[in-house]
Amino acid sequence: MRPHDATPAWDREIAVPFRHRVWFTDGSLDPANPAFAHALRCACPGREAPRRMAAFVDSGVLAAWPDLTEKLYRYLLAHDGLPELMWVESMQGGEACKNDPSCVEDVLDAVNNVKIDRHSVLLAIGGGAVLDAVGFGAAIAHRGVRHVRMPTTVLAQDDSAMGVKNGVNRGAKKNFTGAFAPPDAVVCDRAFLATLPDAVWRGGFSEAVKIALLKDPALFETLERDGPAIRARSMDAAWPVIMRSAELHARHIMDGGDPFETREARPLDHGHWAAHRLESMTGFELPHGEAVGIGLALDTVYARRIGLLQQEQATRILQVLASLGLARSHPMLASMDEVLWGLEEFREHLGGMLSITLMRDIGHPIEVHEIDRVAMEESAAELLKTNE
Ligand SMILES: NC(=O)c1ccc[n+]([C@@H]2O[C@H](COP(=O)([O-])OP(=O)(O)OC[C@H]3O[C@@H](n4cnc5c(N)ncnc54)[C@H](O)[C@@H]3O)[C@@H](O)[C@H]2O)c1
Ligand SMILES: [Zn+2]
Repeated sequence: MRPHDATPAWDREIAVPFRHRVWFTDGSLDPANPAFAHALRCACPGREAPRRMAAFVDSGVLAAWPDLTEKLYRYLLAHDGLPELMWVESMQGGEACKNDPSCVEDVLDAVNNVKIDRHSVLLAIGGGAVLDAVGFGAAIAHRGVRHVRMPTTVLAQDDSAMGVKNGVNRGAKKNFTGAFAPPDAVVCDRAFLATLPDAVWRGGFSEAVKIALLKDPALFETLERDGPAIRARSMDAAWPVIMRSAELHARHIMDGGDPFETREARPLDHGHWAAHRLESMTGFELPHGEAVGIGLALDTVYARRIGLLQQEQATRILQVLASLGLARSHPMLASMDEVLWGLEEFREHLGGMLSITLMRDIGHPIEVHEIDRVAMEESAAELLKTNE
């Protein structure tokens, strides 16, 4: 050993492979449907010792599907080689579970009490918030137990469940405490979407608009054509959009070379700097999906005002949001001093340089590193005025 040598003793790259498996199905808990059984077998491959499972279910899902626990038990009994369900618990749905630290504690207690080891599985059934909170518990219990996501909202199926992020809020800071932990399987069951309240249904399509803007002009055109049908809850119109949006999110995360977000550019966070800020300014009363719609509108008007985006394209984007029934403004946009703090939080979260994704055309994103505060304030004023 040479105490003053700057050269490391060794310097090796370690690759840790993981599998990303997603199912799209209808009626996943019908015993005749093999998708969920296959997902569980993949997530929790066969071994001698019996495997165990604990499940957390979104309280909103349980209210809409009161026989869900019974169906889950029946499904597991109908198939061979599946883990034994040791525990089912309701978790408060919506942002409340990410704001209440006792929800993650409940997950850790369940893992401990029913002995979920690293060969067992935690199942999360619910919206993006419940998946985030349960996934975080799964990531830190025993330094990571297997977890399977069953997303039950549009947003969770077309975006959040595809990723590798888990986490909860701390104080007013969104997703401050969290972990990157890929799920072992994801089962998107469109049957769940039928019981969504209208606002939750609509809110989920803001992420589809976002990913279409970033990556897929054809998907954007589909949204332009089918926006009114989607808003009227046509599953025929909505399901292909949800699957395509999920695929684009998954591809970006898994094939984009930066699944754990070590780089500064975060295109999937387009529209999110303002969205996260508005969520926190409203005490999380404004749901994420709706906030993203407003964040997209704000960044669209801003891009047009600074001459980056043509008027015609900006109008198309604002119209698509409107046709899906998404709000493009919020009274809090009158407090732009406070909203603009979101940029500082975003910079802090990225760790150094500010990097905001804007659109210069549909399908053509660009990273900018500075925001003109006056033009952003004028953009907010314009949105407030057009929505009066
Ligand atoms: N991890 C990620 O990569 C990622 C990505 C995007 C968003 N998110 C997070 O996802 C959360 C938003 O998720 P969301 O839009 O799915 O909403 P949500 O989880 O807040 O749920 C909204 C409401 O719908 C109810 N609900 C859920 N499924 C239902 C069903 N099938 N029938 C009836 N009611 C149902 C819930 O109980 C809740 O009241 C935010 O916290 C956001 O930060 C995470
Ligand atoms: Zn989002």
